[in-house]
Amino acid sequence: MTRETTHLRLGVNIDHVATLRNARGGADPDPARAAMLAQSAGADGITLHLREDRRHIRDADLPAVMDAVQIPINLEMAATQEMQAIALAHRPHAVCLGPERREERTTEGGLNVAADANRLRDYITPLRAAGARVSLFIAPDEAQVEASARVGAQVVELHVGAYAEFCAAGDDAARDTELRKLFAAAALAQELGLEVHAGHGLNFANVGPIAAIPELVELNIGHFLIGEAVFVGLEAAIREMRRQMNLARL
Ligand code: PXP
Repeated sequence: MTRETTHLRLGVNIDHVATLRNARGGADPDPARAAMLAQSAGADGITLHLREDRRHIRDADLPAVMDAVQIPINLEMAATQEMQAIALAHRPHAVCLGPERREERTTEGGLNVAADANRLRDYITPLRAAGARVSLFIAPDEAQVEASARVGAQVVELHVGAYAEFCAAGDDAARDTELRKLFAAAALAQELGLEVHAGHGLNFANVGPIAAIPELVELNIGHFLIGEAVFVGLEAAIREMRRQMNLARL
């Protein structure tokens, strides 16, 4: 196989650098600096999630991060009119649409594409026309994968949060059931012409079996890497994640 088919891209999500900054209300630590460091540590892309409540990334962070790096930017956002206008104004390389509830601590569950297909089709059209690669953050579920293809997404990002929770709980049977769902969803997505990404809750202990899913071309990883950076530095944390991902692909 060529490198194109085996290289698994690592998108580094820098949201929680902004979480730390916002805790004090000043300018440090700077998410754009984190993006530059991630780039020099070998990240293939930078992911940032502009939430409706601006709890971490803020509007000004998007152009600052886009200016700071040359690698592709993946903007995660809810499918609202406000966010669509921001994406169209800044034109990041990719837009990942996910569900968002104010009361949740992080993105819980995937987008219900099947239930919102007509609206999402209309929502995606101008984003694609502006050149963005549109990704939908979904549970590893056949109906959601099929609906994603129907509404015109180019990419699906499979939510691996349930898998990560079962790993943390030491529930091997539930973890394996979830892994089987992820393998099946990835295969179906590729069959339908979708590029397949995955993310949420990945860390050094659980990334291997996910990185081994052959159809995956990108993982987006944030919270664990930023936490690990407190102990070993951001570059070292990213390099180790890269190493673990490569090992799974040998
Ligand atoms: N991918 C998507 C679509 C997400 O919403 C998130 C969390 O913002 C991530 C990846 C990264 O998850 P984590 O921070 O748990 O690594």
